[in-house]
Amino acid sequence: MSKQYNWFKIADHINELDFQDSNISLIEVSGKKVCIGKYKDEIFAFTNKCPHAGGMMSEGYIDALGNVVCPMHRYKYDIRNGRNTSGE
Ligand code: FES
Repeated sequence: MSKQYNWFKIADHINELDFQDSNISLIEVSGKKVCIGKYKDEIFAFTNKCPHAGGMMSEGYIDALGNVVCPMHRYKYDIRNGRNTSGE
């Protein structure tokens, strides 16, 4: 059985997204808040809620190694696969 994906167009160009200094832009699609993260020349989508205790990932940032850093307890998640990289 294959997965079915729904695709949503969020912009005509990446420059339309507001990444500020954190490299994270919070958007809303189909009633859900989704973070768009920019790392080097790639963009990624991920949840706004931290899997640890629900911190708002959109208020965190992406570090130089490509980790999304949660603002609440500073846990880090690899933007490419979501795995925790800070040892928790
Ligand atoms: S809620 Fe994100 S690290 Fe704890």
